[in-house]
Amino acid sequence: MLVSATEMLKKAVAGKYAVGQFNINNLEWTKAILTTAQENNSPVILGVSEGAGKYMTGFKTVAAMVKAMIDELNITVPVALHLDHGSYDGCYKCIEAGFSSVMFDGSHFPIAENVAKTSELVKVCHEKGISIEAEVGSIGGEEDGVVGAGEIADPDECKKIADLGVDFLAAGIGNIHGKYPENWKGLDFDALAKTKALIGNLPLVLHGGTGIPADMIQKAISLGVAKINVNTECQLYFQEATRKYIEAGKDLEGKGFDPRKLLAPGTEAIKVIVKEKMELFGSINKA
Ligand code: 13P
Repeated sequence: MLVSATEMLKKAVAGKYAVGQFNINNLEWTKAILTTAQENNSPVILGVSEGAGKYMTGFKTVAAMVKAMIDELNITVPVALHLDHGSYDGCYKCIEAGFSSVMFDGSHFPIAENVAKTSELVKVCHEKGISIEAEVGSIGGEEDGVVGAGEIADPDECKKIADLGVDFLAAGIGNIHGKYPENWKGLDFDALAKTKALIGNLPLVLHGGTGIPADMIQKAISLGVAKINVNTECQLYFQEATRKYIEAGKDLEGKGFDPRKLLAPGTEAIKVIVKEKMELFGSINKA
């Protein structure tokens, strides 16, 4: 069932668990994540970056594929189709294409411009029943060529953006996209607690879910994080399983070259890591 992410995240805040946003790249990714959510009776958010949208030939293709797949696979758990780190134009394209949720990443704009653009998009989204995420403090690491420095978001700025009526808020707390470096200092829970105290029950989003230790994830959830984004870890699981298949020479046996066989181990591996994350986030049986 395609829905906005608003209700599922309100429920997550109340129940002290988080819903995973897993980024999709193609049909296999989408199938693996949707079936894992259904098998575990978990709500789920499918994240689509602008780059992944382009790769799949456009947001209309993505929305059509996801809607049809939900129908063909009888997916009854709540599914949100969400633009990840959207530009201003990207948000409008996704709204038009039928996404049920968008993130407007205005973190690189001066705060006044971020406020103006976010307010406008909040209005447009809410008229259409679409949920909207905003970001304060850019998330470090590299994603689709965008490199941020891993800022700690200013709690007062978070409050300012929260008051614009966004449905959930990504606040940088030292988290970064991709693998964490050896000398990473960990999440800044003081900043998280300060922001939480100012914004009340608004769900918080933790980007860069790959490689954050389980105890930090749990502490973040206890402090109001209700959505956790995971991308790189699915890619790494897919890559490792695919590598093993080829290194074992399986692609050379019989019809092992058939793409449906070649991509199967990677697809199964995505299911394994998505289930693990759902267990850690506490979203199983919360559909
Ligand atoms: P990772 O790739 O580090 O898991 O981050 C995903 C993310 O935050 C998508 O917005």
